[in-house]
Amino acid sequence: MINEEYKKMLGAKSVIRELSEYATKRGTEIGYDNVYDFSLGNPSVPCPDGYTEAVIDIHKNLNPMDIHGYSPSTTLPDVREAVANSLNRRFGMNYDMKHIFMTSGAAGALAHALRAVTKPGDKVLSFAPFFPEYRPYVSGCGDELVLVPADTANFQINLEAFEEMLDEKVMAVLINTPNNPSGVVYSEGTIKAMTDIMRRAQEKYGHDIFLISDEPYREIMFDGQTFTYPSKFYDNTLSCYSFSKSLSLPGERIGYVAVNPKATDADLLVPIMAQISRGIGHNCPSSSVQMAVARVLEDTSDLSVYETNMNLIYEELVNLGFNVVRPDGTFYIFPQALEEDAVAFCQKAKKYDLILVPSDSFGVKGYFRMAYCIDTDKVRRSLDALRRFVQTEYGI
Ligand SMILES: Cc1ncc(COP(=O)(O)O)c(C=O)c1O
Repeated sequence: MINEEYKKMLGAKSVIRELSEYATKRGTEIGYDNVYDFSLGNPSVPCPDGYTEAVIDIHKNLNPMDIHGYSPSTTLPDVREAVANSLNRRFGMNYDMKHIFMTSGAAGALAHALRAVTKPGDKVLSFAPFFPEYRPYVSGCGDELVLVPADTANFQINLEAFEEMLDEKVMAVLINTPNNPSGVVYSEGTIKAMTDIMRRAQEKYGHDIFLISDEPYREIMFDGQTFTYPSKFYDNTLSCYSFSKSLSLPGERIGYVAVNPKATDADLLVPIMAQISRGIGHNCPSSSVQMAVARVLEDTSDLSVYETNMNLIYEELVNLGFNVVRPDGTFYIFPQALEEDAVAFCQKAKKYDLILVPSDSFGVKGYFRMAYCIDTDKVRRSLDALRRFVQTEYGI
């Protein structure tokens, strides 16, 4: 008999994927250039030349038996060491090779981190607005995802609600900064206050509560701001990273988990993840891709285009009277819709070939997400469509 749980999921397809499919279909009718598709978080700038050169050099000059061979179950030692050194340099940490586990992107990192520190039936607390894939990530572990309501004033963390909801069954707290969909980066003040609450709860309940910090947008920061690295503020932290966005490599499926060296059982967590990997059939990302990213750890694609796009859209939204928090990073913006029903709002936008994602699946009602990882020229053209949309539909 087929698995009924997964069968049920077939009927609940991702809203984002559905909108993206609609945009592609509409593109065949009017030309994709005329569809203002803000649905999908797929990078719009190529990977840096350094990555391509690393791939070519590895395939031309290294031993094919090494490049194409299985990597050890805890992933490639030289790569782990390079990642540890880079993180220590950038964030003043003290990682050793044994604290790094290479994964298939952030999704793979979260799959291992969640399983390493929770067991089926445990609660995982996260914060609205949140990345909708957290639902299958967490339910796939047999855990319960509980969402702290959003602080819509600035999309930092609703600390009062968090403290109230952090009960004895919560074994992990899952954060995402810079945040998809809000574009907000949690401030040092927010991280400090949140981790103080977690330390108090650990003391009160007498068990570890792990912080799982999902950071695939860490390199996309605006206005020259620097990233506050959550692991610096809380020992029991597993940092989950991906090269999907920083190096524009979402199809290569590469990322890692970095275990804070001061975490409980820090030296056991990577070997445990290697065991998890066996059980879920992950069995390490491609050896050659691990080797290639290790050579460009501190390089990025030209990410400046996202800031240019953000400024164009943000200014227009403000001019049109939208209530919107200015993003600190990522390639997302999360304005309030012009009517309570965000689904209806986004449906009307489609008439103007504007593909916007309603906020309901992000755990907040009445907002919408725009993923502006698209050509700047298209962003400019889309502003006219946006003006026509709000003037015609809402008289603004
Ligand atoms: C917040 C967040 N976490 C995790 C992921 C998954 O990233 P990856 O492609 O590296 O698996 C994404 C992808 O868009 C994301 O936005």
